[in-house]
Amino acid sequence: MGYGPLQYNNDMSLYAIGDLHLHYQSQLKAPGQLNDPVWKGHEKRFRRNCLNMVFDDDTLVLVGDHSWGRKLAECEKDFQYIRDLPGRKILTRGNHDMFWDVPKTKMLNELYQPDLYFLQDNYEVYKDYAIIATKGHTFEGPYYLDGRRRIIGYDEEAFEHSKKLVERELLRLRRSFELAKADGFSKFIVFLHYPPTNIMEDRSGFTDMCEGYGAKKVIYAHCHGQTRFHDSLQGNVRGIDYQLVSGDYLNWKPAKILD
Ligand SMILES: [Fe+2]
Ligand SMILES: [Fe+2]
Repeated sequence: MGYGPLQYNNDMSLYAIGDLHLHYQSQLKAPGQLNDPVWKGHEKRFRRNCLNMVFDDDTLVLVGDHSWGRKLAECEKDFQYIRDLPGRKILTRGNHDMFWDVPKTKMLNELYQPDLYFLQDNYEVYKDYAIIATKGHTFEGPYYLDGRRRIIGYDEEAFEHSKKLVERELLRLRRSFELAKADGFSKFIVFLHYPPTNIMEDRSGFTDMCEGYGAKKVIYAHCHGQTRFHDSLQGNVRGIDYQLVSGDYLNWKPAKILD
């Protein structure tokens, strides 16, 4: 029997949001969140928004920084909260997800399937798109500023270290693109936790690779607070739609990425 055209429910939608930073069983390591109105009771507001917007056939991509828990045992209640949200849940890695180093991905998927899918070095399918994800990396300084807050230099040693992290992440991203391509996909949506560029919005290995593979969208998170929301690209740049989906930026309302 041959394969027919892909069949899917046309009513379904793809949503994304990042940085839930849950801490039902762990210590909150950003105490500022306790006083910031946007973070106050954010779990309740996010859950309510999901229940109003997201339906069982929909896909919800959670773009890293899920939990403050360092060990899996400290994340159980956070994962239970995520499991109880509507829709198919895909989790990607953030810099604070200490429970998840890459070799643990298979184990995480065995433990939590079919409720949660931990996406790393692989791809997932949404309609005729391949969903690709990796943590990414961006050099965040320290930068040295002059009196008018212009960048006049940066920490060379930290920059050298960050170059290695970028290379590793680019390898992972390429591997995921190639896997999806080998299976016949030509439409890609990429999820990075870190922004795709530095604060000068220079081209990066990530923007170049996503352009090279013809990605339609690059979705990222990680940027918190008014002063960081405009750290990187937003809107259409060289043919790709860039979108920030950190939870506080979205005020805990998941962003619709695709119908
Ligand atoms: Fe975060
Ligand atoms: Fe982050």
